[in-house]
Amino acid sequence: MKILRIEHLGLACRSADQAAAFWSGALGLPVVDRETLPEMKLKVVKVQAGGSVLELLEPMEGEQVISKFLTSRGEGVHHVCFEVEDIREAARELRARGHVPLWEEPKAGAGGKWVNFLRPKDAFGVLVELNQAPGPAPV
Ligand code: CO
Repeated sequence: MKILRIEHLGLACRSADQAAAFWSGALGLPVVDRETLPEMKLKVVKVQAGGSVLELLEPMEGEQVISKFLTSRGEGVHHVCFEVEDIREAARELRARGHVPLWEEPKAGAGGKWVNFLRPKDAFGVLVELNQAPGPAPV
């Protein structure tokens, strides 16, 4: 598999706006995107850091995943996302090496990117996201 870069870090926040104000105020990082993902019940603010992004994740009412993380671990790094050239090829290689991705097939995530994950229990405590730039459905 070809890993292109660390595309983003996902940070769990109680308030994405307050966290964004910190990252832009303290480090001078520009806010490049704000979106609400109703189906995932998440508010997402993106802050640019050179060729990578900090993805600030704030749970909305009824959200389960980030909410649970905030309750058990508090605010902080939730996942690391590697951009790959070919997400299906990456999943195939991972399976061949005995590492089972969360989903059989990639799903369309934030920004229309194709995503899949490795669970923290299989990756030394780190939730690993793999993504591929948006485009036609990977084959
Ligand atoms: Co992410």
